[in-house]
Amino acid sequence: MADPPNRPIRTIAIDGPAGAGKSTIGLGLAKHLGFLYFDTGVMYRAVTLAALQRQIAPDDEDAVSQLAENVLIEVLPPRVDDGRQYTVRLDGQDVTWAIRRPDVDAAVSVVSAFPRVRQAMVAQQRRIARDGNLVMVGRDIGTVVMPDADLKIYLDASLEARAWRRYRELESRGTPSSYADVLTSMKQRDELDLSRATSPLRPAPDAFIVDCTHMDADETLARVIALVAEQNAARPGTQAQPAGVAVAPENDR
Ligand code: DC
Repeated sequence: MADPPNRPIRTIAIDGPAGAGKSTIGLGLAKHLGFLYFDTGVMYRAVTLAALQRQIAPDDEDAVSQLAENVLIEVLPPRVDDGRQYTVRLDGQDVTWAIRRPDVDAAVSVVSAFPRVRQAMVAQQRRIARDGNLVMVGRDIGTVVMPDADLKIYLDASLEARAWRRYRELESRGTPSSYADVLTSMKQRDELDLSRATSPLRPAPDAFIVDCTHMDADETLARVIALVAEQNAARPGTQAQPAGVAVAPENDR
């Protein structure tokens, strides 16, 4: 393997299955480092919602692909103080919460398996990643979107732990579902994400696997922050980052 470059980590990929806590950890890490946080799952969710709104069947590959190539998805800093991490707009309409609906959950794995949908989304994601100083979260970030990311993390947890977390998240948002339904839907999503032909979910060969089945969010974040500090310390010419000290971004956004 080539030697690491002579500068601190600027690009971090976090991949893993649904409900592993990628968005909590990704956002926490990005805030700690002063980096941009970008959750690519919202783009696949927005395309899925767009199809449902237009009464396009999620398995109509041609129509959904065409939609993905033409729809305008914007991910912006939060505009409303209601617990959101960002604002997602679909052709100008605020869909931040609508993309979390169970009907979107049920259809998004079908939509995100279409190669043309992925191509359209990956092109936009690579543009966003170009400037660095970011934490990008998804399923194929370390393998496809940023194969040369400075640090790749694969965040994993047991199916039951992930379903339980998602169940409690839905409950706290006032959209409760039964635990059994959440578990079934998550299992189906895992199967589709793992088995699809284009960019299946899998850790990049050089990813650090972090299993957070038995860790809470604070412990997991501390583990990941320590990992960044360790990896920065191992880069030649880079000063060790004491835990809790943010890495200054190289350029402002
Ligand atoms: O992370 P999430 O649950 O919001 O992702 C929603 C779906 O989008 C998930 O089932 C798989 C898909 N996805 C993907 O295929 N590639 C990504 N980079 C991110 C998400």
